[in-house]
Amino acid sequence: MDIDWPALRAAATVVAARAYAPYSGLAVGAAAVDADGTMVTGCNVENASYGLTLCAECGLVSAQRAAGAGPLVAVSVVAGDGAPLEPCGRCRQLLLEAGGPDLLLDTDGGPQRLGDLLPGAFTASDLRTRRSPTSATDSDA
Ligand code: THU
Repeated sequence: MDIDWPALRAAATVVAARAYAPYSGLAVGAAAVDADGTMVTGCNVENASYGLTLCAECGLVSAQRAAGAGPLVAVSVVAGDGAPLEPCGRCRQLLLEAGGPDLLLDTDGGPQRLGDLLPGAFTASDLRTRRSPTSATDSDA
């Protein structure tokens, strides 16, 4: 699949302008596409109770589910200036579950595989294989 990286980065820049970041002053926007080309976006939303801040990628993965989009194949995360921003560690983990290790991230040096940016990640397979048999229940994922 051909990724229109300039369009993806432009969409991320548009939503970065809608961020609510009065405390840090750092607006962040994220835009991603699934294999069908469905695009989803998100921006950061801060809170007076600082720890409740939602990163742009949180909104992105929520929008992915809300839109019924499939696994993400390409993502651009930018600051308010429109230049790529490296996702924080927590958000790399979110993106991994939303797109898998082959998800491509827009960076200054070109697209990079998420799996290379978050090696050795904890995943659902760790839950399946490492949980204690005595604490597992039928309702566990
Ligand atoms: N932020 C994001 O939205 N995504 C990241 O990957 C890194 C950080 C936001 C959270 C907070 O609103 C601001 O940037 C400063 O940390």
